[in-house]
Amino acid sequence: MQILNGQELSKQIQAEIKLEVDAMIANGQRPPHLAAILVGEDGASQTYVDNKIKSCKECGFQSTMIRKDASLSENELIDIIETLNNDANVDGFIIQLPLPKHINENKILLRISPDKDVDGFTPHSIGLMTLGLDGFKPATPFGILKMLERYKIETKGKRCIVVGRSNIVGKPIGIMLGQNNPVGNCTVTILNSHTPDIEKYTREADILIVAIGKPKMVTADMVKEGAVVIDVGITRVQDDSKKGFHLEGDVDYAHVAEKCSYITPVPGGVGPMTVTMLLFNTLQSRKNKLKALNA
Ligand code: GUN
Repeated sequence: MQILNGQELSKQIQAEIKLEVDAMIANGQRPPHLAAILVGEDGASQTYVDNKIKSCKECGFQSTMIRKDASLSENELIDIIETLNNDANVDGFIIQLPLPKHINENKILLRISPDKDVDGFTPHSIGLMTLGLDGFKPATPFGILKMLERYKIETKGKRCIVVGRSNIVGKPIGIMLGQNNPVGNCTVTILNSHTPDIEKYTREADILIVAIGKPKMVTADMVKEGAVVIDVGITRVQDDSKKGFHLEGDVDYAHVAEKCSYITPVPGGVGPMTVTMLLFNTLQSRKNKLKALNA
């Protein structure tokens, strides 16, 4: 069994990104600039956004953190988005999800200008990705693909089962892995919480992707010997520790790992790759602008 070390791979890819940023600055250009909007006080979301801002700094990016109270109205959030859409010094921005219940996420995501959608969440980005065209690919599925590519894991002809059909992970990873690409050439089935006999499908998977948000839901008996297992779940489970919680993935790692050919740990697997591909997309956005300016 080999661990798919997202932490290590992220360090490598971020070093490659930093080289490009250093060259940009040496060439007299400003570095890429990412802005992040965080609404409310959700602890996990705060940690994720802090990690994104920290990685920006490490790669030489400019970053702006916009923190708002949970009482922010939908219209106030739209105003912030419009300001960022029109700011020529911002290459991309993200709105950390989930948003407070009184804000309609779909309505908000539709307001992001496609050329700044570095999370790859807008219909424009999803459409380009679905057609196999260049655009901003959703960061988490993009990170999973990058992992498969860098670890040279064969996808052609493989059976891939995705557990979870969310707009930000399950649906897009299903599309990306089912395309006729060097990485992502599988036969894909996407399961959901209403699928009967989930284990009947998961046991067929050469590549099993789990993104359902239920700690330790996938047990060893549900996994084929030699499978590649990618765990996207990351849930805070309360305990008696000083922090008051620990993190658990959707896969019962201790028992599943011994059956796998490859497996991602939680934390240190998919999570860091999401941050890295967000930076990759933001660098791409900056390069797109420089190209348009012929700079
Ligand atoms: N919430 C969970 N994952 C993500 C992500 O990749 N981007 C944003 N903006 N919010 C998230």
